[in-house]
Amino acid sequence: MAFNKFDRKSGKTLGQIVKIKIIVGNENKEIESEEGRTLLDLALMAGMAPPYSCMEGHCESCRALVNGKHRLTCQTVPSSMGALEDLVVDYNKG
Ligand code: FES
Repeated sequence: MAFNKFDRKSGKTLGQIVKIKIIVGNENKEIESEEGRTLLDLALMAGMAPPYSCMEGHCESCRALVNGKHRLTCQTVPSSMGALEDLVVDYNKG
C-alpha cells in the first residue's frame, strides 16, 4: 500500500512512499521508497549487494523480477511505475 510521507518541520508532503521487499541471494530486507531513488539505489543504501555494473541501463546486470515483471533496477524509480503498490524486487529471478 502506498502512502504519503509528511515532513512535520516543513509541513510538506514528501511524495508517495511504497514498501519494498528486496531479495538478493539468501538475504531479504523490507525498506521504504525514497523520492527520486531507483530500486538499485535503495538496495545499495540498505547495505545489500545486488548485481550491477554500468548504472546507466546498458549492461542489464541489475535486472530483477519486480512484481512479476523484469526490470532494470538502475533505471526504475517506484514513483515512475504508475499505480503504486507494495513491491517485491527479486534479484535471484532477474
Ligand atoms: S547496472 Fe547496467 S543496466 Fe543497470
